[in-house]
Amino acid sequence: MSHYQIAVIPGDGTGPEVVREGLRVLEAAAGRAGFTYDLTEYDFGGERYLRTGETLPDSAVSELRDFDAIFLGAIGHPEVAPGILEQGILLKARFDLDLYINLRPVKLYPGVETPIKDKGPQDIDFVVVRENTEGLYASTGGFLRKGTPDEIAVQESVNTRKGAERCLRYAFDYAKRPDRRGELTLVGKTNVLTYAWNLWWRAFNEVGEADYPQVKREYAHVDAVCMWFVKNPEWFDVIVTDNMFGDIITDLAAMIQGGLGIAAGGNINPDPGGTAMFEPMGGSAPKYAGQNKINPLAAISSMQMMLDHLGEKDAARWVEAGVMHSTERLPSLAAGRMGMSTSEVGDMVVTHVKEGTVTEESGW
Ligand code: IPM
Ligand code: MN
Repeated sequence: MSHYQIAVIPGDGTGPEVVREGLRVLEAAAGRAGFTYDLTEYDFGGERYLRTGETLPDSAVSELRDFDAIFLGAIGHPEVAPGILEQGILLKARFDLDLYINLRPVKLYPGVETPIKDKGPQDIDFVVVRENTEGLYASTGGFLRKGTPDEIAVQESVNTRKGAERCLRYAFDYAKRPDRRGELTLVGKTNVLTYAWNLWWRAFNEVGEADYPQVKREYAHVDAVCMWFVKNPEWFDVIVTDNMFGDIITDLAAMIQGGLGIAAGGNINPDPGGTAMFEPMGGSAPKYAGQNKINPLAAISSMQMMLDHLGEKDAARWVEAGVMHSTERLPSLAAGRMGMSTSEVGDMVVTHVKEGTVTEESGW
């Protein structure tokens, strides 16, 4: 029987409420699948920063390294200046734990309204693999003559062959999964950013030709992809791109799958012994904190991604079936509201994970 060590960072605002539902779903899934786990909670976030001045201390990073996975609620506090918590917690975790994959499934579930006219669940089902440790996020550059009329600011994009290649390999492997179509689209800007995207382009074709001949390779410019996400989202299966483009296109993608209440993501180091951190895409929504109103489905779907990552494939499928069961039944998700409380939605998924029947048709 497998046993996992899981770190939990509920964080700020509505983070703790949605994390609670995610953990209830974990408990139900573990009971059914027959694995066990220990939870260790950490209080990183805005409150702790305001109290102690600490974001994510180095000692915590070395502790986090040893967990099988990290479950994060939300980071963001209205009284903390923008950038401090993002850089000090989220980006620090990504860099220091070398979580070089940012994985974002984009799937429109039944009953969820998309702003894209005439598109349904059969049209919106793709995955974005974003490089998560390099590019413009590497924070290299600087000022010249700062504060003068002749000021210069340089912000460099760092692209290493190793960094691109490990990300591409993960994406190629993902495209080979039985639930994908075997198509990988590199999203870049080869026509203008001729150094960075030339490296990516060569690595994409060399790795693909040598080791993944069965995966169909496509290329698209990032601006065109923004257009196609809206016009023809059904064209995409697995997408791979760099850090900055990935940041931008995954927000657009979250909107076509029904918004931030639904969108889940993972920050993953897929190497042996690597850890991974899963989080709902929405922020801390301080306005709604403590009201039992926020949609927990994004957090529950991040839990599903965590289970999938841990290798608990059945449990992950049960959780996804539970999420789909509830999106089909939520009275007013289509109108952008839930019509149910946070914990009632959690109840619905938990019950389905515990008791849902296994049918040939639903595949579980
Ligand atoms: C995301 C977020 C982060 C990013 C911010 C909060 C630093 O927007 O996870 O996409 O830019 O990567
Ligand atoms: Mn973003």
